[in-house]
Amino acid sequence: MIETLISIVFCLSSALTVLILLLPSQYQPAQAGSPSRPHAAKRHKTCVQILVLGDIGRSPRMQYHALSIAKHGGEVVIIGYNESDPHPDIISHPSISIVPLRSHPALLQTSNKLLFTIYGPLKVLFQIVCLWKCLAYTTKPSRWLLVQNPPSIPTLAIASLVCFLRQTRLIIDWHNFGYSILALKLGQTHPLVKMSMWYEKVFCKSASAHFCVTNAMASVLKKDFNLPVPVLPLHDRPASHFNPILDPNARTDFLTTLPETKEFHSALKAGSLRVLVSSTSWTADEDFSVLIDALLRYSELATTVQPHLPEVLAIITGKGPQKEMYLGQIAALEKASKLQKVTIRTAWLSVPEYARLLASASLGVSLHTSSSGVDLPMKVVDMFGAGLPVVGWDRFEAWPELVTEGVNGLGFGSSKELAGHLVELFGKSDKLESLRLGAQKESSRRWDDEWNPIAGSLIGLT
Ligand SMILES: *[C@@H]1O[C@H](CO)[C@@H](O)[C@H](O)[C@H]1NC(C)=O
Repeated sequence: MIETLISIVFCLSSALTVLILLLPSQYQPAQAGSPSRPHAAKRHKTCVQILVLGDIGRSPRMQYHALSIAKHGGEVVIIGYNESDPHPDIISHPSISIVPLRSHPALLQTSNKLLFTIYGPLKVLFQIVCLWKCLAYTTKPSRWLLVQNPPSIPTLAIASLVCFLRQTRLIIDWHNFGYSILALKLGQTHPLVKMSMWYEKVFCKSASAHFCVTNAMASVLKKDFNLPVPVLPLHDRPASHFNPILDPNARTDFLTTLPETKEFHSALKAGSLRVLVSSTSWTADEDFSVLIDALLRYSELATTVQPHLPEVLAIITGKGPQKEMYLGQIAALEKASKLQKVTIRTAWLSVPEYARLLASASLGVSLHTSSSGVDLPMKVVDMFGAGLPVVGWDRFEAWPELVTEGVNGLGFGSSKELAGHLVELFGKSDKLESLRLGAQKESSRRWDDEWNPIAGSLIGLT
């Protein structure tokens, strides 16, 4: 009897020892400088880990955070999937390093609702193991951990636990809510959506500060999430490669270099073509049929009662699941001669080409229908960066934080309204020109102006 008890106690204590030995190391501010030079501690670089459970190259905002921190003398470790090319400055910067996460087996990716409930948990399990290994062991303990949310599962839970064990301060950067995105897929009332909301509300409590993309989101976080720590709105701003092209001739010249405009050169030169740009993810939350429908109405008006309306070329960029379906629809409409004076082309452009296309086009269109009502489409931010006026779906709370109605863009809530805007803006160009001036003014607002006073001062770098 006694012997059994002793062996149990022995087993327990050795398990505890193993556990303690395996615990991730802690952040030690005193050791951050070299012990032989006592003053070095003051001068050592503030280390910030940035975690995104997504492709780093396609997470512009997290890359801007990294560049800003490094610019102000901080040391950055970015943890995420290293799939598409990250920003060249990220790769070349001596103070920024990337710790790649292993992507989950492709087998576990599905759009099937039923399979999703089976594969989902397996995928999460795989991510938990990878994240734990990366955050608790592969990387050294750091002063701060800045986490992108969403995806919230399992990132928030793992990040909270690691930060607790390592004495790291957690900052959550809210781009949206994880549960509202899940609700697009599963429906508002699905138990997983409810659980996900609870999870987000619980684990975000361990952060010592929060950034978010709109004032509207900040007030939701403060009120509904009951956060006692700072919640700081940090609006998205365009990347440095988005800039207006002020000379109209230079805009036309660029447009003639695109293969998509080959058949329109004379109309471009004569100034009788309007180029509309829309970038879409071709997913359920961006209803592309709204744009097709509006262009059909435009076509009808331009060929009947309003023959003065100019020709329109719509260039659509982006990849996504519903692309093929819509391309089929467009081809059918063309065949049936329903699209007169309107041409729709898709394009896949390099980053600098896309930036120049935005700067050269006549009008940008955003079909983004915010899942939470308080997030904003980054593509509109980029359009403004390029000085391009925007028409966009405006039936959500945060829209006026981005677009000033009638000054740099117009909102719509149906394809009929969108068609009305197209007719108004393309029919008489003075309104479009005044919106362009508004958009060009907007383009002077840049990331540093937002980041330095808010994030920089929180982290202690500015
Ligand atoms: C990440 O990918 C880029 C190229 O896209 C490569 O240059 C870089 O070395 C990769 N970094 C790591 C840590 O794998």
